[in-house]
Amino acid sequence: MSTEQSRQHVVLGVSGGIAAYKACELLRLFKESGPGAFDVTVVPTAAALEFVGAPTWSALSGKPVSAEVWTDVHQVPHVRIGQTADLVVVAPATADLLAKAAHGLADDLLTNTLLTARCPVVFAPAMHTEMWDHPATTANVATLRERGAVVIEPAEGRLTGSDTGKGRLPDPAEIFAFATDLLARGGSQVQDLAGKHVVVSAGGTREYLDPVRFLGNRSSGLQGYALARTAAARGAEVTLVAANVTLADPAGVKVVRVETTAQLQAEVVSACAAADVVVMAAAPADFRPEVFVESKIKKAEDGSSPEIRLTQNPDILAGLAQHRPHPALVVVGFAAETGDDAGSVMEHATAKLARKGCDLLVVNDVGGGKVFGSEENEAVILGADGSSSPVPRGSKSAVAQAIWDRVADLPHQR
Ligand code: CTP
Repeated sequence: MSTEQSRQHVVLGVSGGIAAYKACELLRLFKESGPGAFDVTVVPTAAALEFVGAPTWSALSGKPVSAEVWTDVHQVPHVRIGQTADLVVVAPATADLLAKAAHGLADDLLTNTLLTARCPVVFAPAMHTEMWDHPATTANVATLRERGAVVIEPAEGRLTGSDTGKGRLPDPAEIFAFATDLLARGGSQVQDLAGKHVVVSAGGTREYLDPVRFLGNRSSGLQGYALARTAAARGAEVTLVAANVTLADPAGVKVVRVETTAQLQAEVVSACAAADVVVMAAAPADFRPEVFVESKIKKAEDGSSPEIRLTQNPDILAGLAQHRPHPALVVVGFAAETGDDAGSVMEHATAKLARKGCDLLVVNDVGGGKVFGSEENEAVILGADGSSSPVPRGSKSAVAQAIWDRVADLPHQR
Protein backbone atom coordinates (compact mmCIF):
# COMPACT_ATOMS: atom_id res chain seq x y z
CA MET A 1 0.00 0.00 0.00
CA SER A 2 1.38 3.45 -0.83
CA THR A 3 1.88 6.01 1.92
CA GLU A 4 -0.91 8.06 0.34
CA GLN A 5 -3.33 5.12 0.61
CA SER A 6 -2.33 4.21 4.18
CA ARG A 7 -2.69 7.77 5.46
CA GLN A 8 -5.92 8.43 7.26
CA HIS A 9 -8.14 11.07 5.73
CA VAL A 10 -9.38 13.62 8.21
CA VAL A 11 -11.84 16.37 7.37
CA LEU A 12 -11.46 19.34 9.67
CA GLY A 13 -14.71 21.29 9.50
CA VAL A 14 -14.49 24.80 10.89
CA SER A 15 -17.59 26.88 11.54
CA GLY A 16 -17.79 30.58 12.24
CA GLY A 17 -16.83 31.28 15.82
CA ILE A 18 -13.96 33.19 17.36
CA ALA A 19 -12.41 29.84 18.37
CA ALA A 20 -11.74 29.19 14.66
CA TYR A 21 -8.18 30.38 15.28
CA LYS A 22 -7.66 27.46 17.67
CA ALA A 23 -8.49 25.06 14.83
CA CYS A 24 -5.19 26.15 13.21
CA GLU A 25 -3.40 24.56 16.18
CA LEU A 26 -5.56 21.43 15.85
CA LEU A 27 -4.68 21.25 12.15
CA ARG A 28 -0.97 21.50 12.98
CA LEU A 29 -1.29 18.68 15.51
CA PHE A 30 -2.84 16.42 12.84
CA LYS A 31 -0.25 17.41 10.26
CA GLU A 32 2.76 17.10 12.57
CA SER A 33 1.84 13.99 14.53
CA GLY A 34 4.15 11.74 12.54
CA PRO A 35 5.45 11.38 9.03
CA GLY A 36 2.47 11.26 6.71
CA ALA A 37 0.09 10.16 9.48
CA PHE A 38 -2.91 12.22 8.40
CA ASP A 39 -4.13 13.77 5.21
CA VAL A 40 -6.27 16.70 6.31
CA THR A 41 -8.84 18.54 4.23
CA VAL A 42 -10.06 21.71 5.86
CA VAL A 43 -13.67 22.60 5.10
CA PRO A 44 -14.54 25.98 6.61
CA THR A 45 -17.91 27.67 6.46
CA ALA A 46 -18.15 31.13 4.90
CA ALA A 47 -18.47 32.56 8.42
CA ALA A 48 -15.30 30.72 9.53
CA LEU A 49 -13.43 32.46 6.71
CA GLU A 50 -14.40 35.80 8.29
CA PHE A 51 -12.30 34.76 11.28
CA VAL A 52 -9.41 32.90 9.61
CA GLY A 53 -8.76 33.23 5.88
CA ALA A 54 -8.49 30.46 3.28
CA PRO A 55 -4.72 31.04 2.72
CA THR A 56 -4.01 30.05 6.34
CA TRP A 57 -5.98 26.80 6.07
CA SER A 58 -4.50 26.07 2.68
CA ALA A 59 -0.90 26.69 3.73
CA LEU A 60 -1.23 24.65 6.94
CA SER A 61 -3.03 21.72 5.28
CA GLY A 62 -1.12 21.80 2.00
CA LYS A 63 -4.43 21.61 0.10
CA PRO A 64 -6.87 23.93 -1.64
CA VAL A 65 -9.66 25.18 0.57
CA SER A 66 -13.21 26.13 -0.28
CA ALA A 67 -16.36 26.80 1.70
CA GLU A 68 -18.85 26.25 -1.10
CA VAL A 69 -19.78 23.54 -3.56
CA TRP A 70 -19.10 25.54 -6.76
CA THR A 71 -15.30 25.12 -6.78
CA ASP A 72 -13.78 22.18 -8.76
CA VAL A 73 -17.30 20.94 -9.53
CA HIS A 74 -15.94 18.30 -11.94
CA GLN A 75 -14.45 16.53 -8.89
CA VAL A 76 -17.86 16.55 -7.16
CA PRO A 77 -16.29 17.72 -3.87
CA HIS A 78 -19.61 17.93 -2.00
CA VAL A 79 -19.86 14.14 -2.19
CA ARG A 80 -16.23 12.99 -2.53
CA ILE A 81 -14.79 14.70 0.57
CA GLY A 82 -17.29 13.08 2.92
CA GLN A 83 -17.22 9.69 1.20
CA THR A 84 -13.44 9.33 1.42
CA ALA A 85 -13.04 10.58 5.00
CA ASP A 86 -11.94 8.30 7.86
CA LEU A 87 -12.92 10.92 10.40
CA VAL A 88 -14.69 14.28 10.38
CA VAL A 89 -13.93 16.69 13.21
CA VAL A 90 -15.87 19.95 13.38
CA ALA A 91 -14.04 22.41 15.63
CA PRO A 92 -15.39 24.83 16.56
CA ALA A 93 -18.98 23.72 15.99
CA THR A 94 -21.27 26.72 16.43
CA ALA A 95 -24.92 26.53 17.54
CA ASP A 96 -25.89 27.27 13.92
CA LEU A 97 -23.73 24.44 12.53
CA LEU A 98 -25.10 21.97 15.10
CA ALA A 99 -28.65 23.01 14.15
CA LYS A 100 -27.97 22.55 10.44
CA ALA A 101 -26.32 19.17 11.03
CA ALA A 102 -29.19 17.99 13.25
CA HIS A 103 -31.72 18.96 10.59
CA GLY A 104 -29.77 17.63 7.62
CA LEU A 105 -29.47 20.99 5.88
CA ALA A 106 -26.84 21.11 3.15
CA ASP A 107 -26.27 24.61 1.86
CA ASP A 108 -22.47 24.67 1.80
CA LEU A 109 -19.52 22.30 1.46
CA LEU A 110 -19.26 21.43 5.16
CA THR A 111 -22.94 20.56 5.64
CA ASN A 112 -22.88 18.52 2.39
CA THR A 113 -19.80 16.71 3.70
CA LEU A 114 -21.58 15.91 6.96
CA LEU A 115 -24.43 14.28 5.01
CA THR A 116 -22.16 12.17 2.81
CA ALA A 117 -19.69 11.06 5.50
CA ARG A 118 -20.15 7.50 6.75
CA CYS A 119 -17.14 7.64 9.10
CA PRO A 120 -17.11 8.78 12.76
CA VAL A 121 -18.04 12.44 13.16
CA VAL A 122 -16.89 14.49 16.15
CA PHE A 123 -18.32 17.92 16.97
CA ALA A 124 -16.39 20.17 19.36
CA PRO A 125 -18.91 22.91 20.17
CA ALA A 126 -17.92 26.45 21.14
CA MET A 127 -20.45 29.17 21.88
CA HIS A 128 -21.73 31.38 24.65
CA THR A 129 -23.24 29.59 27.64
CA GLU A 130 -26.72 30.92 26.87
CA MET A 131 -26.59 29.42 23.37
CA TRP A 132 -25.25 26.08 24.66
CA ASP A 133 -27.94 25.93 27.35
CA HIS A 134 -30.77 26.89 24.96
CA PRO A 135 -33.33 24.07 24.58
CA ALA A 136 -32.89 24.22 20.79
CA THR A 137 -29.16 23.46 21.08
CA THR A 138 -29.81 20.79 23.74
CA ALA A 139 -32.27 19.07 21.40
CA ASN A 140 -29.92 19.33 18.40
CA VAL A 141 -27.03 17.85 20.39
CA ALA A 142 -29.28 15.02 21.60
CA THR A 143 -30.36 14.30 18.00
CA LEU A 144 -26.77 14.21 16.76
CA ARG A 145 -25.70 11.90 19.60
CA GLU A 146 -28.68 9.60 18.96
CA ARG A 147 -27.49 9.26 15.38
CA GLY A 148 -24.05 8.20 16.53
CA ALA A 149 -22.12 11.46 16.24
CA VAL A 150 -19.79 12.34 19.10
CA VAL A 151 -20.45 15.75 20.60
CA ILE A 152 -17.65 16.67 23.01
CA GLU A 153 -18.76 18.67 26.06
CA PRO A 154 -17.51 22.25 25.83
CA ALA A 155 -15.03 23.38 28.44
CA GLU A 156 -15.74 25.98 31.11
CA GLY A 157 -13.77 29.19 31.25
CA ARG A 158 -13.19 32.49 29.54
CA LEU A 159 -15.47 33.11 26.55
CA THR A 160 -15.24 35.91 23.99
CA GLY A 161 -15.25 39.20 25.83
CA SER A 162 -15.00 39.30 29.59
CA ASP A 163 -17.59 36.64 30.40
CA THR A 164 -16.85 33.11 31.60
CA GLY A 165 -18.91 29.94 31.65
CA LYS A 166 -19.51 26.69 29.79
CA GLY A 167 -19.03 26.95 26.05
CA ARG A 168 -15.29 27.23 25.51
CA LEU A 169 -13.68 25.11 22.83
CA PRO A 170 -11.68 22.36 24.58
CA ASP A 171 -7.92 22.74 24.17
CA PRO A 172 -6.77 21.66 20.66
CA ALA A 173 -4.43 19.07 22.21
CA GLU A 174 -7.41 17.54 23.99
CA ILE A 175 -9.56 17.45 20.82
CA PHE A 176 -6.62 15.91 18.96
CA ALA A 177 -6.08 13.25 21.65
CA PHE A 178 -9.81 12.51 21.67
CA ALA A 179 -10.01 12.23 17.87
CA THR A 180 -6.91 10.08 17.40
CA ASP A 181 -8.02 7.83 20.23
CA LEU A 182 -11.38 7.38 18.53
CA LEU A 183 -9.62 6.47 15.28
CA ALA A 184 -7.30 4.05 17.09
CA ARG A 185 -10.36 2.26 18.48
CA GLY A 186 -11.76 1.82 14.99
CA GLY A 187 -14.11 4.78 15.29
CA SER A 188 -16.49 3.14 17.72
CA GLN A 189 -17.44 5.17 20.74
CA VAL A 190 -18.61 2.53 23.23
CA GLN A 191 -20.58 4.13 26.03
CA ASP A 192 -19.92 1.29 28.47
CA LEU A 193 -19.18 3.68 31.35
CA ALA A 194 -22.42 5.66 30.89
CA GLY A 195 -24.14 6.16 34.23
CA LYS A 196 -20.88 5.57 36.16
CA HIS A 197 -19.14 8.23 38.22
CA VAL A 198 -15.39 7.77 38.21
CA VAL A 199 -12.77 9.61 40.22
CA VAL A 200 -9.23 9.83 38.86
CA SER A 201 -6.26 11.36 40.63
CA ALA A 202 -3.30 12.66 38.63
CA GLY A 203 0.01 14.43 39.05
CA GLY A 204 2.45 14.65 41.93
CA THR A 205 1.84 16.32 45.27
CA ARG A 206 4.05 18.98 46.82
CA GLU A 207 4.93 19.08 50.47
CA TYR A 208 6.03 22.52 51.57
CA LEU A 209 9.03 23.13 53.82
CA ASP A 210 8.48 26.87 53.87
CA PRO A 211 6.48 29.31 51.68
CA VAL A 212 8.82 28.85 48.70
CA ARG A 213 10.28 25.34 48.92
CA PHE A 214 8.67 21.96 48.57
CA LEU A 215 9.42 18.25 48.19
CA GLY A 216 7.90 17.00 44.96
CA ASN A 217 8.21 14.26 42.40
CA ARG A 218 8.43 13.75 38.64
CA SER A 219 4.85 12.70 37.88
CA SER A 220 3.61 14.57 34.77
CA GLY A 221 -0.10 13.74 35.14
CA LEU A 222 -0.27 12.46 31.54
CA GLN A 223 -1.54 8.98 32.46
CA GLY A 224 -4.19 10.32 34.85
CA TYR A 225 -5.37 12.87 32.27
CA ALA A 226 -5.60 10.13 29.62
CA LEU A 227 -7.68 8.07 32.07
CA ALA A 228 -10.02 11.01 32.67
CA ARG A 229 -10.38 11.85 28.97
CA THR A 230 -11.06 8.27 27.90
CA ALA A 231 -13.55 7.66 30.73
CA ALA A 232 -15.48 10.78 29.69
CA ALA A 233 -15.40 9.59 26.07
CA ARG A 234 -16.88 6.27 27.22
CA GLY A 235 -19.78 8.08 28.87
CA ALA A 236 -18.65 8.36 32.51
CA GLU A 237 -19.15 11.35 34.75
CA VAL A 238 -15.55 12.12 35.70
CA THR A 239 -13.99 13.98 38.61
CA LEU A 240 -10.27 14.52 38.08
CA VAL A 241 -8.31 15.52 41.16
CA ALA A 242 -5.13 17.02 39.75
CA ALA A 243 -2.03 17.75 41.80
CA ASN A 244 0.22 20.37 40.22
CA VAL A 245 -0.50 19.42 36.61
CA THR A 246 -0.07 22.00 33.85
CA LEU A 247 -1.94 20.07 31.13
CA ALA A 248 -5.15 21.36 29.53
CA ASP A 249 -8.42 20.21 31.12
CA PRO A 250 -9.84 17.12 29.41
CA ALA A 251 -13.15 17.80 27.65
CA GLY A 252 -16.25 17.23 29.74
CA VAL A 253 -14.36 16.48 32.97
CA LYS A 254 -14.72 18.19 36.35
CA VAL A 255 -11.19 19.17 37.40
CA VAL A 256 -10.37 19.82 41.07
CA ARG A 257 -6.90 21.27 41.65
CA VAL A 258 -4.83 20.43 44.72
CA GLU A 259 -1.21 20.76 45.82
CA THR A 260 -0.52 18.61 48.87
CA THR A 261 -1.23 14.98 49.77
CA ALA A 262 -3.62 16.12 52.52
CA GLN A 263 -5.63 18.17 49.98
CA LEU A 264 -5.56 15.30 47.49
CA GLN A 265 -6.86 12.92 50.13
CA ALA A 266 -9.66 15.27 51.19
CA GLU A 267 -10.87 15.83 47.61
CA VAL A 268 -10.58 12.19 46.49
CA VAL A 269 -12.32 10.83 49.60
CA SER A 270 -15.12 13.38 49.28
CA ALA A 271 -15.65 12.61 45.56
CA CYS A 272 -15.61 8.84 46.24
CA ALA A 273 -18.73 9.03 48.41
CA ALA A 274 -20.82 9.16 45.22
CA ALA A 275 -18.44 7.33 42.87
CA ASP A 276 -18.44 3.84 41.35
CA VAL A 277 -14.71 3.67 40.59
CA VAL A 278 -11.59 5.46 41.82
CA VAL A 279 -8.27 5.23 40.01
CA MET A 280 -5.30 6.54 41.96
CA ALA A 281 -2.92 7.49 39.17
CA ALA A 282 -1.41 10.35 41.18
CA ALA A 283 1.96 10.13 42.86
CA PRO A 284 1.29 11.47 46.36
CA ALA A 285 4.45 12.24 48.30
CA ASP A 286 4.99 9.50 50.87
CA PHE A 287 6.59 11.95 53.29
CA ARG A 288 6.17 15.58 54.27
CA PRO A 289 8.29 17.84 56.44
CA GLU A 290 7.31 17.42 60.07
CA VAL A 291 7.12 21.16 60.49
CA PHE A 292 6.15 23.85 58.02
CA VAL A 293 8.29 26.94 58.64
CA GLU A 294 6.11 30.02 58.18
CA SER A 295 8.88 32.25 56.79
CA LYS A 296 11.60 31.41 54.27
CA ILE A 297 14.38 29.33 55.80
CA LYS A 298 17.62 31.39 55.66
CA LYS A 299 21.14 30.07 55.20
CA ALA A 300 22.95 29.86 58.54
CA GLU A 301 25.97 32.14 58.90
CA ASP A 302 28.14 29.28 60.17
CA GLY A 303 27.53 27.37 56.92
CA SER A 304 25.55 24.58 58.61
CA SER A 305 22.59 23.05 56.76
CA PRO A 306 19.17 22.80 58.34
CA GLU A 307 17.95 19.37 59.38
CA ILE A 308 14.59 18.50 57.94
CA ARG A 309 12.67 15.79 59.70
CA LEU A 310 10.06 14.00 57.64
CA THR A 311 6.85 12.39 58.70
CA GLN A 312 4.79 9.86 56.75
CA ASN A 313 1.74 10.92 54.76
CA PRO A 314 -1.45 8.85 54.86
CA ASP A 315 -1.73 6.19 52.16
CA ILE A 316 -4.84 7.37 50.34
CA LEU A 317 -5.22 4.24 48.20
CA ALA A 318 -4.90 1.82 51.11
CA GLY A 319 -7.29 3.94 53.18
CA LEU A 320 -9.93 3.90 50.44
CA ALA A 321 -9.52 0.19 49.74
CA GLN A 322 -9.64 -0.86 53.38
CA HIS A 323 -12.34 1.55 54.57
CA ARG A 324 -14.51 1.89 51.46
CA PRO A 325 -17.01 4.76 51.61
CA HIS A 326 -19.47 2.18 50.24
CA PRO A 327 -18.94 -1.50 49.45
CA ALA A 328 -19.51 -1.22 45.68
CA LEU A 329 -16.63 1.23 45.14
CA VAL A 330 -14.01 -0.26 42.79
CA VAL A 331 -10.52 0.79 43.85
CA VAL A 332 -7.69 0.83 41.31
CA GLY A 333 -4.10 1.66 42.22
CA PHE A 334 -0.87 2.18 40.35
CA ALA A 335 2.50 0.78 41.29
CA ALA A 336 5.68 2.37 40.01
CA GLU A 337 8.26 -0.33 40.67
CA THR A 338 11.89 -1.07 40.08
CA GLY A 339 13.29 -4.52 40.75
CA ASP A 340 15.95 -4.80 43.50
CA ASP A 341 17.77 -7.36 45.64
CA ALA A 342 14.58 -7.97 47.60
CA GLY A 343 12.50 -8.96 44.57
CA SER A 344 11.47 -8.46 40.97
CA VAL A 345 9.04 -5.78 39.76
CA MET A 346 6.15 -8.30 39.74
CA GLU A 347 7.02 -9.69 43.18
CA HIS A 348 6.96 -6.20 44.66
CA ALA A 349 3.73 -5.41 42.81
CA THR A 350 1.92 -8.57 43.93
CA ALA A 351 2.87 -7.82 47.53
CA LYS A 352 1.69 -4.22 47.10
CA LEU A 353 -1.72 -5.31 45.73
CA ALA A 354 -2.26 -7.48 48.80
CA ARG A 355 -0.92 -4.86 51.20
CA LYS A 356 -3.08 -2.05 49.86
CA GLY A 357 -6.20 -4.18 49.37
CA CYS A 358 -7.28 -2.66 46.05
CA ASP A 359 -9.23 -4.48 43.32
CA LEU A 360 -6.79 -3.79 40.49
CA LEU A 361 -3.18 -2.65 40.45
CA VAL A 362 -1.65 -1.18 37.30
CA VAL A 363 2.05 -1.99 37.44
CA ASN A 364 4.65 0.18 35.67
CA ASP A 365 8.29 -0.79 35.53
CA VAL A 366 10.02 2.56 36.09
CA GLY A 367 13.59 1.28 36.20
CA GLY A 368 15.94 3.75 34.49
CA GLY A 369 13.49 6.69 34.51
CA LYS A 370 11.03 5.01 32.12
CA VAL A 371 7.43 6.35 31.95
CA PHE A 372 7.86 9.73 33.72
CA GLY A 373 6.82 12.47 31.31
CA SER A 374 6.78 10.06 28.39
CA GLU A 375 3.92 9.99 25.89
CA GLU A 376 3.96 6.19 26.01
CA ASN A 377 3.51 3.60 28.68
CA GLU A 378 3.24 -0.15 29.15
CA ALA A 379 1.87 -2.00 32.12
CA VAL A 380 0.57 -5.18 33.67
CA ILE A 381 -2.84 -5.06 35.36
CA LEU A 382 -2.98 -7.34 38.40
CA GLY A 383 -6.36 -8.30 39.84
CA ALA A 384 -7.21 -9.16 43.44
CA ASP A 385 -8.60 -12.39 41.93
CA GLY A 386 -5.03 -13.39 40.98
CA SER A 387 -5.42 -12.39 37.32
CA SER A 388 -2.64 -10.69 35.41
CA SER A 389 -3.16 -8.94 32.05
CA PRO A 390 -0.28 -7.35 30.16
CA VAL A 391 -0.94 -4.05 28.40
CA PRO A 392 1.42 -3.69 25.45
CA ARG A 393 3.54 -0.58 24.93
CA GLY A 394 1.38 2.17 23.47
CA SER A 395 0.08 5.67 24.02
CA LYS A 396 -1.07 6.56 27.51
CA SER A 397 -4.59 6.77 26.01
CA ALA A 398 -4.30 3.15 24.85
CA VAL A 399 -3.16 2.10 28.32
CA ALA A 400 -6.04 4.09 29.84
CA GLN A 401 -8.52 2.31 27.55
CA ALA A 402 -7.11 -1.06 28.59
CA ILE A 403 -7.60 -0.11 32.25
CA TRP A 404 -11.22 0.89 31.63
CA ASP A 405 -11.76 -2.34 29.62
CA ARG A 406 -10.55 -4.27 32.67
CA VAL A 407 -12.70 -2.21 35.07
CA ALA A 408 -15.78 -2.65 32.86
CA ASP A 409 -15.07 -6.40 32.89
CA LEU A 410 -15.14 -6.75 36.69
CA PRO A 411 -18.13 -8.94 37.60
CA HIS A 412 -19.96 -6.31 39.70
CA GLN A 413 -19.53 -3.64 37.00
CA ARG A 414 -21.57 -5.51 34.40
N1 CTP B 1 -0.56 6.22 46.98
C1 CTP B 1 -1.49 6.81 47.81
N2 CTP B 1 -1.07 7.54 48.88
C2 CTP B 1 0.25 7.67 49.16
C3 CTP B 1 1.21 7.04 48.30
C4 CTP B 1 0.75 6.34 47.23
O1 CTP B 1 -2.68 6.69 47.57
N3 CTP B 1 0.64 8.38 50.18
C5 CTP B 1 -1.05 5.44 45.83
C6 CTP B 1 -0.62 5.92 44.47
O2 CTP B 1 -1.55 6.83 43.92
C7 CTP B 1 -0.59 4.63 43.67
C8 CTP B 1 -0.23 3.59 44.71
O3 CTP B 1 -0.51 4.17 45.96
O4 CTP B 1 -1.86 4.30 43.16
C9 CTP B 1 1.19 3.11 44.68
O5 CTP B 1 2.12 4.10 44.93
P1 CTP B 1 3.67 3.73 45.09
O6 CTP B 1 4.42 4.99 45.27
O7 CTP B 1 4.09 2.81 44.00
O8 CTP B 1 3.62 2.87 46.39
P2 CTP B 1 3.97 3.18 47.86
O9 CTP B 1 2.80 2.89 48.70
O10 CTP B 1 4.56 4.53 48.00
O11 CTP B 1 5.03 2.03 48.15
P3 CTP B 1 6.61 2.03 48.02
O12 CTP B 1 7.06 3.42 47.68
O13 CTP B 1 7.04 1.56 49.33
O14 CTP B 1 6.88 1.04 46.91
